[in-house]
Amino acid sequence: MSAAPATTATTALVTGGAGLIGSHIVDAAVAHGWNVRVLDSLEPQTHRRGRPDWVPEAVEFVKGDVRNRRDWERALAGVDIVFHEAAYGGYMPEIAKFIHVNAYGTALLLETIRDRNLPVRKVVLASSQAVYNEGAYACPDHGRFYGQTRPIAQLQSGDYAMHCPVCGQPSAPVPTDEAAPMGGENVYAISKADQERLLVSWGRATGIPTVALRYSCTFGPRQSVFNPYTGVIAIFCTRLLNDLPPVVYEDGQQSRDLVFVEDVARANLLVATDDRADGGIFNVGTGQAAAIGDLARLLADRLGKPIPPHLPGEFRPGEMRALISDISRLAALGFAPQVSLSDGIDRYLAWIATQGEIGEYFAAAERRLRKRRVVKRAGAGA
Ligand SMILES: NC(=O)c1ccc[n+]([C@@H]2O[C@H](COP(=O)([O-])OP(=O)(O)OC[C@H]3O[C@@H](n4cnc5c(N)ncnc54)[C@H](O)[C@@H]3O)[C@@H](O)[C@H]2O)c1
Ligand SMILES: [Zn+2]
Repeated sequence: MSAAPATTATTALVTGGAGLIGSHIVDAAVAHGWNVRVLDSLEPQTHRRGRPDWVPEAVEFVKGDVRNRRDWERALAGVDIVFHEAAYGGYMPEIAKFIHVNAYGTALLLETIRDRNLPVRKVVLASSQAVYNEGAYACPDHGRFYGQTRPIAQLQSGDYAMHCPVCGQPSAPVPTDEAAPMGGENVYAISKADQERLLVSWGRATGIPTVALRYSCTFGPRQSVFNPYTGVIAIFCTRLLNDLPPVVYEDGQQSRDLVFVEDVARANLLVATDDRADGGIFNVGTGQAAAIGDLARLLADRLGKPIPPHLPGEFRPGEMRALISDISRLAALGFAPQVSLSDGIDRYLAWIATQGEIGEYFAAAERRLRKRRVVKRAGAGA
């Protein structure tokens, strides 16, 4: 009997490793002493200038597409741990591409590992808070409930509140735990829920450990300054830097849990290295929420641009009113976010200042969304 070699290094594959979250997982995995390989297609909408300079030279870079079986076969050879971050994300009008990249791409990953009997030890998936229908709320009289997607007719009347299902009173958001019903109503959410379900059922069937991490809104250095469809902080900053007001939907009181990207990367390393996470689904966030209108004012203030947000009275069907991640499940494994919103914004703004001229792509994107009725106006009946 021969002993296993003592010095076999762990090899991690990070899909989407050129992107915001993936690239920070790459850094964390390299710092952890792992060999790292990246599979990334360099989606042009995200990477208008090609391979970003933050992908370390020392990392093996496989330019390929998660929709291509051959690319998975190349990328998965010799891999111990997979962090599957590559995805098509945001409020783009496409339907088929979300399903193709996210659901089909994940299916190919899982099928390739199983059919080739690859010795992968764990698969960690980037899921999203978007898989929830809505956040959790508390009625002053009837207590806690999980919200339902607000009907379009309600939003069209300019009523954006979440109402108690028993008495109809407007109710305040409270932290949302992982038991909240899945069922986000936009195509992105459906595709993320597909990815998660495929992973969990595959893990049970194959016995290979899996972990799904439901990230809340992630921000920080390396968030694409080109993609006008994703990243509220990035979108608001690119508007302000072009002396244009951030466009805030609804009444600006809708809120999100904004988590700094390095904290998300730390959560990934934690679940990759702790067996107690295996088979689990975890929220990753801060447990705090910021109102989007306040965020727009805060960014204007930090950038020294006295430009108030523009509230055109529009909304996006299927969006949540509020989501605060209840992070106690991951906290029980030792997770605690380390970077506050304020410090994270400072670090993001310091980074964006190094990115040269910042273009404004949002206005054209918005026209595209409005034309396809992915953005609607309250009171306009359309
Ligand atoms: N940023 C957030 O707020 C947030 C929140 C919840 C979940 N997520 C999830 O986290 C993951 C990473 O998101 P991000 O914010 O870093 O996005 P990102 O756009 O910065 O990075 C995604 C990367 O995937 C690559 N990619 C896209 N399509 C691909 C394809 N077909 N084949 C190979 N590579 C492809 C892109 O080139 C990009 O480098 C995604 O799965 C996303 O759904 C993000
Ligand atoms: Zn009530």
